[in-house]
Amino acid sequence: MHLPILQLVNFSIILVVLIFLIKYSWDMFFGETYEPPAWGKARMEKQLSPELLKFSKNYPDKVRLYNFWLQIQRLEKDNVTGDFAELGVYKGQSAKLLHLMAPARTLRLFDTFEGFTETDLKPERGEAASYSTKNFADTSINKVLKHIGGDLSKLKIHAGYFPDSAKGLENESFALVNIDADLYNPVKAGLEFFYPRLAPGGVIIIHDYNHRWEGLVKAVDDYTTKMNCNLVPVADLDSSVMIFKPKEHLAVNE
Ligand SMILES: C[S@@+](CC[C@H](N)C(=O)[O-])C[C@H]1O[C@@H](n2cnc3c(N)ncnc32)[C@H](O)[C@@H]1O
Repeated sequence: MHLPILQLVNFSIILVVLIFLIKYSWDMFFGETYEPPAWGKARMEKQLSPELLKFSKNYPDKVRLYNFWLQIQRLEKDNVTGDFAELGVYKGQSAKLLHLMAPARTLRLFDTFEGFTETDLKPERGEAASYSTKNFADTSINKVLKHIGGDLSKLKIHAGYFPDSAKGLENESFALVNIDADLYNPVKAGLEFFYPRLAPGGVIIIHDYNHRWEGLVKAVDDYTTKMNCNLVPVADLDSSVMIFKPKEHLAVNE
């Protein structure tokens, strides 16, 4: 039986629209719209581990992810030495990214692994004032290590209240520090501890620099004004900012 011409045309139009919609939705949810050329090249040349590619697929903030990766590429290219560190680990999502992207670096992980403390929450305003000691408390060192996986000898856990948990590390040097601790006190303490120990060419990335986190923004603004360093904004979902240590800068005793 032959379909009338009109029905055939209608069917073709519907088919084309459907294909277009499916492709558009697929690209929107699974496409690599934000993939920088360098990442694409590294992927094609099989320089990215299957674990990193798999984890990256489901990581919700692609701009944050690619920014970490591009910074790490730069640090490797420029031979910036030093450990990596994260202040604010929770269940280890961003820590896992950092370890997958730079498995040979020592990654120092600072967290109470029990959530925020009353002392840090008390002075907060804005969104942070609605948080309690229950937030981010549902984690543990074992769960984090299991989640990150990889080379356990490169993962150093510094559990407890920061900056107390950094005692004994005064002579260390850092190439990349991710500060994701939401509140005024830990962010201020993080900058005061890590910036003087940042290697020349090194970078501190601070997550959540936006109006919802007043204390955090104040801690960053106060410190960068005092130290006269530039803030570089990142267009990721929660507005990270970066602080770089100039290459000619001495890494000790500011
Ligand atoms: C937003 S979560 C970190 C999220 C994590 N980076 C991720 O990718 O899922 C903030 C973390 O900072 C930690 N934190 C905040 N203040 C701290 C302090 N003074 N000492 C240690 N950890 C702290 C909390 O326990 C919490 O796990």
